[in-house]
Amino acid sequence: MSTMTKKMTLERILHSQGFGSRKECRTMVRNEWVSVHGELITDPFVEFELSGFQFEVEDEVWHYREQAYLMINKPPHYECSQKPIHHASIYSLLPEPIRERGVQCIGRLDEDTTGLILLSDDGQFIHRMSSPKWKVPKVYQVTCKHPVDPDQVQTLLTGVMLNDELEPLQALSVEQIDDLTIQMTLAQGKYHQVKRMVAAVSNRVEALHRVKIGPLTLPTDLAQGAWRWLTEAEVELLMQSPKNS
Ligand code: URA
Repeated sequence: MSTMTKKMTLERILHSQGFGSRKECRTMVRNEWVSVHGELITDPFVEFELSGFQFEVEDEVWHYREQAYLMINKPPHYECSQKPIHHASIYSLLPEPIRERGVQCIGRLDEDTTGLILLSDDGQFIHRMSSPKWKVPKVYQVTCKHPVDPDQVQTLLTGVMLNDELEPLQALSVEQIDDLTIQMTLAQGKYHQVKRMVAAVSNRVEALHRVKIGPLTLPTDLAQGAWRWLTEAEVELLMQSPKNS
Protein backbone atom coordinates (compact mmCIF):
# COMPACT_ATOMS: atom_id res chain seq x y z
CA MET A 1 0.00 0.00 0.00
CA SER A 2 1.35 3.47 -0.79
CA THR A 3 1.98 6.08 1.92
CA MET A 4 -0.85 8.10 0.30
CA THR A 5 -3.57 5.88 1.78
CA LYS A 6 -1.78 4.15 4.61
CA LYS A 7 -3.03 4.66 8.16
CA MET A 8 -1.33 3.87 11.45
CA THR A 9 -2.06 4.26 15.14
CA LEU A 10 -0.37 7.15 16.91
CA GLU A 11 1.58 4.69 19.03
CA ARG A 12 3.03 2.98 15.96
CA ILE A 13 3.73 6.30 14.24
CA LEU A 14 5.74 7.56 17.21
CA HIS A 15 7.61 4.26 17.41
CA SER A 16 8.46 4.40 13.68
CA GLN A 17 9.79 7.95 14.07
CA GLY A 18 12.25 7.01 16.84
CA PHE A 19 10.34 8.04 19.96
CA GLY A 20 10.98 4.76 21.78
CA SER A 21 9.47 1.31 22.17
CA ARG A 22 5.76 0.90 21.45
CA LYS A 23 5.14 0.74 25.19
CA GLU A 24 7.11 3.97 25.76
CA CYS A 25 5.20 5.66 22.94
CA ARG A 26 1.89 4.51 24.41
CA THR A 27 2.90 6.02 27.74
CA MET A 28 3.95 9.29 26.06
CA VAL A 29 0.50 9.64 24.54
CA ARG A 30 -1.31 8.73 27.75
CA ASN A 31 0.87 11.24 29.63
CA GLU A 32 -0.45 13.98 27.32
CA TRP A 33 2.86 14.77 25.59
CA VAL A 34 1.54 14.42 22.06
CA SER A 35 -0.78 16.66 20.02
CA VAL A 36 -1.88 16.57 16.42
CA HIS A 37 -2.41 19.99 14.88
CA GLY A 38 -2.66 21.50 18.37
CA GLU A 39 -5.19 18.98 19.66
CA LEU A 40 -4.00 16.86 22.57
CA ILE A 41 -4.43 13.14 21.79
CA THR A 42 -4.53 10.81 24.76
CA ASP A 43 -5.63 7.61 23.02
CA PRO A 44 -2.52 5.91 21.53
CA PHE A 45 -4.67 3.76 19.25
CA VAL A 46 -6.27 6.54 17.23
CA GLU A 47 -5.34 6.04 13.57
CA PHE A 48 -4.00 8.78 11.30
CA GLU A 49 -3.28 8.90 7.59
CA LEU A 50 0.46 9.00 7.09
CA SER A 51 0.59 11.22 4.04
CA GLY A 52 1.58 14.71 5.16
CA PHE A 53 1.04 13.73 8.81
CA GLN A 54 2.39 16.19 11.34
CA PHE A 55 2.41 15.94 15.13
CA GLU A 56 3.80 17.79 18.13
CA VAL A 57 5.76 16.27 20.99
CA GLU A 58 5.94 18.71 23.87
CA ASP A 59 5.32 21.53 21.40
CA GLU A 60 8.03 20.52 18.94
CA VAL A 61 6.59 19.89 15.47
CA TRP A 62 7.54 16.68 13.64
CA HIS A 63 6.58 15.52 10.15
CA TYR A 64 6.04 11.82 9.55
CA ARG A 65 8.84 10.47 7.37
CA GLU A 66 8.82 6.92 6.13
CA GLN A 67 12.60 7.14 5.77
CA ALA A 68 15.06 9.68 7.08
CA TYR A 69 17.45 11.55 4.76
CA LEU A 70 19.53 14.36 6.19
CA MET A 71 22.73 16.32 5.95
CA ILE A 72 25.11 17.67 8.58
CA ASN A 73 27.74 20.35 8.20
CA LYS A 74 30.40 18.52 10.17
CA PRO A 75 32.50 20.60 12.54
CA PRO A 76 36.11 19.68 13.34
CA HIS A 77 36.79 17.48 16.38
CA TYR A 78 33.82 15.19 15.82
CA GLU A 79 34.07 11.53 14.88
CA CYS A 80 31.78 9.83 12.35
CA SER A 81 31.26 6.91 14.68
CA GLN A 82 28.53 5.72 17.03
CA LYS A 83 31.30 4.85 19.49
CA PRO A 84 33.84 7.65 19.25
CA ILE A 85 37.20 7.28 20.95
CA HIS A 86 38.78 10.73 21.22
CA HIS A 87 36.03 13.23 20.39
CA ALA A 88 32.27 13.60 20.38
CA SER A 89 30.22 11.65 17.86
CA ILE A 90 28.55 13.54 15.03
CA TYR A 91 25.41 11.60 15.95
CA SER A 92 25.33 13.70 19.12
CA LEU A 93 24.47 16.69 16.88
CA LEU A 94 21.11 15.08 16.04
CA PRO A 95 17.90 15.00 18.09
CA GLU A 96 17.42 11.73 19.94
CA PRO A 97 14.47 10.39 17.88
CA ILE A 98 16.52 10.71 14.70
CA ARG A 99 19.42 8.84 16.29
CA GLU A 100 17.00 6.26 17.66
CA ARG A 101 15.56 5.42 14.27
CA GLY A 102 18.99 4.23 13.23
CA VAL A 103 20.31 6.76 10.76
CA GLN A 104 23.87 6.13 9.58
CA CYS A 105 26.55 8.37 8.12
CA ILE A 106 27.12 7.65 4.44
CA GLY A 107 30.88 7.41 4.32
CA ARG A 108 33.09 8.95 6.96
CA LEU A 109 35.11 12.11 7.27
CA ASP A 110 38.23 12.30 9.43
CA GLU A 111 37.97 13.87 12.85
CA ASP A 112 39.59 17.10 11.57
CA THR A 113 37.71 17.24 8.22
CA THR A 114 34.69 19.53 8.01
CA GLY A 115 31.71 19.82 5.68
CA LEU A 116 28.98 17.84 4.02
CA ILE A 117 27.89 14.46 5.35
CA LEU A 118 24.72 12.64 4.37
CA LEU A 119 22.87 10.35 6.74
CA SER A 120 19.93 8.02 6.25
CA ASP A 121 18.13 4.95 7.53
CA ASP A 122 17.27 3.83 3.98
CA GLY A 123 19.58 0.94 3.12
CA GLN A 124 19.00 1.28 -0.61
CA PHE A 125 19.90 4.98 -0.54
CA ILE A 126 22.99 4.33 1.59
CA HIS A 127 24.12 1.68 -0.86
CA ARG A 128 23.43 3.89 -3.89
CA MET A 129 25.48 6.73 -2.41
CA SER A 130 28.37 4.66 -1.11
CA SER A 131 28.81 1.75 -3.50
CA PRO A 132 32.13 1.99 -5.39
CA LYS A 133 30.17 0.87 -8.46
CA TRP A 134 28.41 4.24 -8.76
CA LYS A 135 31.54 6.35 -8.16
CA VAL A 136 29.53 9.23 -6.71
CA PRO A 137 31.92 12.21 -7.01
CA LYS A 138 32.86 14.10 -3.87
CA VAL A 139 34.36 17.57 -3.97
CA TYR A 140 36.87 18.72 -1.34
CA GLN A 141 38.37 22.09 -0.67
CA VAL A 142 41.96 21.31 0.26
CA THR A 143 44.27 23.76 1.99
CA CYS A 144 47.88 22.67 1.61
CA LYS A 145 50.96 23.46 3.69
CA HIS A 146 53.11 24.38 0.66
CA PRO A 147 52.12 26.26 -2.50
CA VAL A 148 50.61 23.84 -5.00
CA ASP A 149 52.56 23.80 -8.26
CA PRO A 150 51.27 22.76 -11.71
CA ASP A 151 53.28 19.50 -11.60
CA GLN A 152 51.51 18.48 -8.41
CA VAL A 153 48.13 19.25 -9.98
CA GLN A 154 49.07 17.24 -13.07
CA THR A 155 50.22 14.25 -11.01
CA LEU A 156 47.00 14.26 -8.98
CA LEU A 157 45.12 14.13 -12.27
CA THR A 158 47.20 11.40 -13.88
CA GLY A 159 47.24 9.28 -10.74
CA VAL A 160 49.35 8.40 -7.72
CA MET A 161 50.14 4.97 -6.34
CA LEU A 162 49.23 4.67 -2.66
CA ASN A 163 50.28 1.92 -0.25
CA ASP A 164 47.83 -1.00 -0.15
CA GLU A 165 46.12 0.05 -3.39
CA LEU A 166 46.26 -2.10 -6.47
CA GLU A 167 45.93 0.71 -8.97
CA PRO A 168 46.92 4.38 -9.09
CA LEU A 169 44.23 6.73 -7.81
CA GLN A 170 43.50 9.87 -9.75
CA ALA A 171 41.40 12.94 -9.10
CA LEU A 172 38.50 13.51 -11.50
CA SER A 173 39.36 17.19 -11.45
CA VAL A 174 41.66 19.60 -9.63
CA GLU A 175 40.99 23.31 -9.65
CA GLN A 176 43.53 25.75 -8.27
CA ILE A 177 41.79 28.30 -6.02
CA ASP A 178 44.89 30.12 -4.76
CA ASP A 179 48.55 29.30 -4.01
CA LEU A 180 47.71 26.99 -1.14
CA THR A 181 44.18 25.90 -1.98
CA ILE A 182 42.83 23.45 -4.49
CA GLN A 183 39.40 22.01 -5.10
CA MET A 184 39.70 18.31 -5.77
CA THR A 185 37.00 15.91 -6.99
CA LEU A 186 37.33 12.20 -6.24
CA ALA A 187 35.27 9.28 -7.47
CA GLN A 188 36.35 6.95 -4.66
CA GLY A 189 36.27 7.18 -0.88
CA LYS A 190 39.40 5.36 0.22
CA TYR A 191 40.81 5.73 3.71
CA HIS A 192 42.40 9.21 4.13
CA GLN A 193 42.38 9.44 0.35
CA VAL A 194 42.84 13.19 -0.07
CA LYS A 195 45.56 13.39 2.57
CA ARG A 196 47.42 10.41 1.14
CA MET A 197 47.18 11.64 -2.45
CA VAL A 198 48.41 15.11 -1.49
CA ALA A 199 51.25 13.57 0.55
CA ALA A 200 52.16 11.46 -2.49
CA VAL A 201 52.88 14.64 -4.45
CA SER A 202 55.16 15.92 -1.64
CA ASN A 203 52.68 18.35 -0.11
CA ARG A 204 50.56 18.16 3.02
CA VAL A 205 46.91 18.79 3.84
CA GLU A 206 46.46 21.49 6.46
CA ALA A 207 42.65 21.72 6.25
CA LEU A 208 40.03 19.66 4.45
CA HIS A 209 36.41 20.61 3.82
CA ARG A 210 33.88 18.61 1.77
CA VAL A 211 31.68 20.92 -0.27
CA LYS A 212 29.73 18.58 -2.53
CA ILE A 213 28.47 15.00 -2.90
CA GLY A 214 27.17 14.10 -6.37
CA PRO A 215 24.88 16.96 -7.41
CA LEU A 216 24.34 18.21 -3.83
CA THR A 217 26.32 21.22 -2.58
CA LEU A 218 26.66 22.06 1.11
CA PRO A 219 24.24 24.98 1.58
CA THR A 220 26.05 28.16 2.59
CA ASP A 221 23.37 28.88 5.20
CA LEU A 222 23.85 25.58 7.04
CA ALA A 223 26.05 26.53 10.00
CA GLN A 224 28.87 24.29 11.13
CA GLY A 225 27.39 21.67 13.47
CA ALA A 226 23.86 22.17 12.10
CA TRP A 227 21.77 19.55 10.31
CA ARG A 228 18.69 19.60 8.11
CA TRP A 229 16.36 17.17 6.36
CA LEU A 230 16.98 16.66 2.66
CA THR A 231 14.05 17.72 0.50
CA GLU A 232 12.29 15.11 -1.63
CA ALA A 233 13.77 16.80 -4.71
CA GLU A 234 17.29 16.50 -3.28
CA VAL A 235 16.84 12.78 -2.53
CA GLU A 236 15.53 12.22 -6.05
CA LEU A 237 18.39 14.19 -7.57
CA LEU A 238 20.93 12.11 -5.64
CA MET A 239 19.23 8.81 -6.54
CA GLN A 240 19.07 9.74 -10.20
CA SER A 241 22.57 11.15 -10.58
CA PRO A 242 24.33 9.28 -13.39
CA LYS A 243 26.95 6.65 -12.86
CA ASN A 244 30.48 7.97 -13.24
CA SER A 245 32.69 6.13 -15.65
N1 URA B 1 40.04 12.22 2.40
C1 URA B 1 40.73 12.36 3.57
O1 URA B 1 41.94 12.26 3.58
N2 URA B 1 40.02 12.64 4.68
C2 URA B 1 38.68 12.79 4.70
O2 URA B 1 38.10 13.06 5.76
C3 URA B 1 37.99 12.65 3.49
C4 URA B 1 38.68 12.36 2.35
